[in-house]
This record gives sequence, C-alpha cells and structure tokens, in this order.
Amino acid sequence: MTIQWFPGHMAKARRQVTEKLNLIDVVIELLDARLPLSSRNPMIDEIVGDKPRLILLNKADMADEKVTDEWTAYFRNLGIRTLPIDALSGKGVNKLTELCRELAADMLNKRAERGMQARAIRIMILGIPNVGKSSLINRLSKRSVAQTGDRPAVTKAQQWVKVGDTLELLDTPGILWPKFEDQMVGLRLAASGAIKDELIDFTEVALFVISYMMHYYPQRLLERYKLQELPEDKVAMLEEIGRKRGCIISRGEIDYDKAAELFLRELRSGKLGRVSVERPIDWEMEEPIGKPLM
Ligand code: G4P
Repeated sequence: MTIQWFPGHMAKARRQVTEKLNLIDVVIELLDARLPLSSRNPMIDEIVGDKPRLILLNKADMADEKVTDEWTAYFRNLGIRTLPIDALSGKGVNKLTELCRELAADMLNKRAERGMQARAIRIMILGIPNVGKSSLINRLSKRSVAQTGDRPAVTKAQQWVKVGDTLELLDTPGILWPKFEDQMVGLRLAASGAIKDELIDFTEVALFVISYMMHYYPQRLLERYKLQELPEDKVAMLEEIGRKRGCIISRGEIDYDKAAELFLRELRSGKLGRVSVERPIDWEMEEPIGKPLM
C-alpha cells in the first residue's frame, strides 16, 4: 500500500468524499491511536464542515493506553467526541451506536417534530490509507450482514450495510491523504507501517523511533535487548540492536539497515509492547523528540 498523493488525486479524493457526505448524518473519522494527528487529513475540518463527527482512535490495542487517554482529552477539548477502538477484535466498537445516536439527535428530533418516521442514522468512515477502514467496515457489517442494496433514489453505486437497528453504514470508505509534507509526520507514519517499506529509509525511521523510545520507554529497550544501561545515543542504540541480533556485514561491522528493519518489524508486531509514537505535547515543542538533525 503506497501513500503517493498528487494534486490531481487529492482533488479527486476530496470530490468523492464531498459527494458522499451529502448522504451522511454522522462522519466517523478514523485515526491511528499511536499517531492521531499524523494520521489525520490536514483539511479534514474544511472537508467535513458542520457535519456531526466522531473520532475513532483505531489500533488502540497497539497504542500506549495512557497516551490514548491524553489524546481523548485533547480531542474532547476541541469539542469532538472520541472513542478508542480495536477494529480487529471489536473492542470499543459496541459504543458506536450510542454515540452516533447522540450526535444525530438534532436530525432525529427534527424529523420527529415534523411528524416523520424515525430512520436509520447514516454513517460513513473516513481516513487515510491503512488506518483500518476496511477492517472496521468488515467488523461492523459482520454484526448484521443484511445489506439494504442499491438505493437508486439516493445514489446508484453505494451500498448501505445495516449495523444493528439504528445505523446504516456506507460500505465504501472515504479515503483522504495524510500531512505528508511534514517530516515528523512522515516518520511517524512510516514507523506505524502506513507507508510501503520500499519507500522508506529503515535507518532513518528506526532512529526516530529509537530516540522516542529512549526518552519515553527506556525500560522496554533495556528489557528487549537485555542491556544494563542505555547507550549514549540513538545511533549507538541501533548499533547495539544490530550486535544483539547478529546484523553484521564483515569484520564485526554492523549492518545498520538490516538492524533498523528488524527493529521496525519487532515494533510493529508488538514485541516492544504498546508504543505510541506521538503525544499532544510533541506538537507544542519546537524540536520534537526524534527529529533528525539536518
Ligand atoms: P484501510 O482500509 O484503512 O486501508 O486499512 P485496513 O483495514 O486494510 O487495515 C490495515 C492494516 O491494519 C491491516 O493489517 C489490518 O489488519 C490492520 N488493523 C486494522 N485495524 C486494526 C486494529 O484495530 N488493531 C490492529 N492491531 N491492527 C489493525 P494487514 O492486513 O496485516 O496489512 P499490513 O499490516 O500488511 O499493511
């Protein structure tokens, strides 16, 4: 899965999302709990406008719970309802209906005032590639496989999937682009696996995560790589990982790229525990932790 967005792609994506938005009562903005702002589309507020919105912090199973709480509070302060979920196991997903009902209360009340029958709340999922949109759609549609089918009066190609008695979900998600022009955002996305490995510099990404972990999760590094103390800097840490994992080129020289790739695989498969690579405070710092020296 590649993140390659060009102006033409962005305009098209935006148009497609805007068209779908007309059909929707509540927008579900899906973010990666480990890097919520970095996995967010930079124009999302403009695109979604006043439409009721719910943020789901997906992959919460892989994120640091305390940091996820900080993010929930962060978005609450912005006036956006936020829920951590795990689309694969379904954890947290059962709260979705209730929250959507609250968010669609205006629409439901207006219909009731006009004597119209209550109808299902129409929702769509919006997010950047790899954030878990398909997984969530699969998870939600499993609860009730009945599809309402095409609705020519509403739109030709869209399929609506019933989720319980209250929600109807658009079966194709809205795909938007990330803030890829920001270097730190790129590093966090690459660390999470959102960017195809062929396109990333393993060493640069691993060094970012290593310095972040040396600051926030030193114990995890010590335990995982069986060290008495942390090496003096991130490069020495990567070297240590290479040595421990046998990433040697010749005459004892460390293969940094191999060590970096191995480290990132361990991170992404959860072997280093639940790691968040972004905190609200990172956006307040002039020199965020892990920023490469350039
Ligand atoms: P997308 O439609 O937004 O592009 O994302 P998709 O559902 O395809 O999910 C991307 C990857 O993230 C998948 O891994 C999926 O299993 C994983 N994923 C989705 N939700 C969760 C979650 O809540 N927790 C965890 N731990 N993983 C989740 P994949 O198929 O292995 O793809 P990849 O890792 O090879 O890219």
